[in-house]
Amino acid sequence: MSLALTGLGVAAPERVVTNADLEAVLDTSDEWIRSRSGIRERRWAGPHESTASFAVEAVANALKAAGRTPDEVGFLVLATCTPDQLLPHTAAAAADALGMRCGSFDLHAACAGFVTALVTGAGLLPTSPGPVVVVGVERLTQILDHEDRTTAVLFADGAGAAVLEAGDGALLGWDAGTDGSLRPFLEIPPGGQHIHMDGGEVFRRAVRIVVDSAGAACARAGIAAADVDVFVPHQANTRIIEAAASRLGIPAERTVVNLDRWGNTSAASIAIALAEAEAAGRLHAGDRVLLSGFGAGMTWASALLRWA
Ligand code: COA
Repeated sequence: MSLALTGLGVAAPERVVTNADLEAVLDTSDEWIRSRSGIRERRWAGPHESTASFAVEAVANALKAAGRTPDEVGFLVLATCTPDQLLPHTAAAAADALGMRCGSFDLHAACAGFVTALVTGAGLLPTSPGPVVVVGVERLTQILDHEDRTTAVLFADGAGAAVLEAGDGALLGWDAGTDGSLRPFLEIPPGGQHIHMDGGEVFRRAVRIVVDSAGAACARAGIAAADVDVFVPHQANTRIIEAAASRLGIPAERTVVNLDRWGNTSAASIAIALAEAEAAGRLHAGDRVLLSGFGAGMTWASALLRWA
């Protein structure tokens, strides 16, 4: 189907936290974090920054890039697993601050959130009264146990948004799935407040999930994954990304990696990486751009785009 991402935008928390900063407060090391995950630094929200404030900034930047105003937007889909409040949805606060009164909802599909929002938004687009805006946004530091070295060094905050319009590009194929039997491996246990993760179990499944899901999205478009021009995977771990890209036959120079500077921002990660790839001039008209996210649930979603 016809789909153009006419504007991309990012919001970055002000505070940069390096591995050295974490070494000072946790039993960990820069060497362990870099070699096991690929992360060098991440951005963490300050007290004045919220999920809604990151969404507002990213959406405003995306609309500016698209040459659109908030009142033109037909629908807003906000993907997050860290809403500011349980009621109302965070999109309500973000839309209010932006001066938008269109329909909106929050979408919770963990680290597959942005791609799930993109596919959902593309489905809404043909009958939408205006452009559809999708934003992946997290303030994961509010659900981190900052004394748990197994998670505190990995997760981070931020937002990425995209304006969806009909145009020269296309959504060529997509794939999504959930295996809820795996949910104990990455969860906030019932009654708990913090992320608990069995990193080894997630790792063991992640590569296969990305390879199968990204491969399925490409197969539905009749394209070999090896012929993809740009691969933008969820930014959780460089070893997962490298192993998945290698099995898909996509070389490193066509794979976007930015988690060394961002850490794992869950629903925001693919949106931020896509925006950075565009800003770096890595996306060209006609390029086949493959997005693939996976995370808690376990849930996954992949989309193959022809770039406008
Ligand atoms: N600093 C130092 N040591 C740490 C540590 C830290 N921050 N976190 C854990 N360790 C220790 C563990 O306690 C364990 O010690 P033990 O063997 O004495 O029990 C050991 O390191 C585990 O090491 P290893 O098995 O080599 O870890 P790993 O190679 O599996 O890497 C992850 C750990 C979490 C980085 C990796 O499993 C991973 O990235 N998993 C996927 C997570 C993910 O993608 N989550 C998000 C999905 S959206």
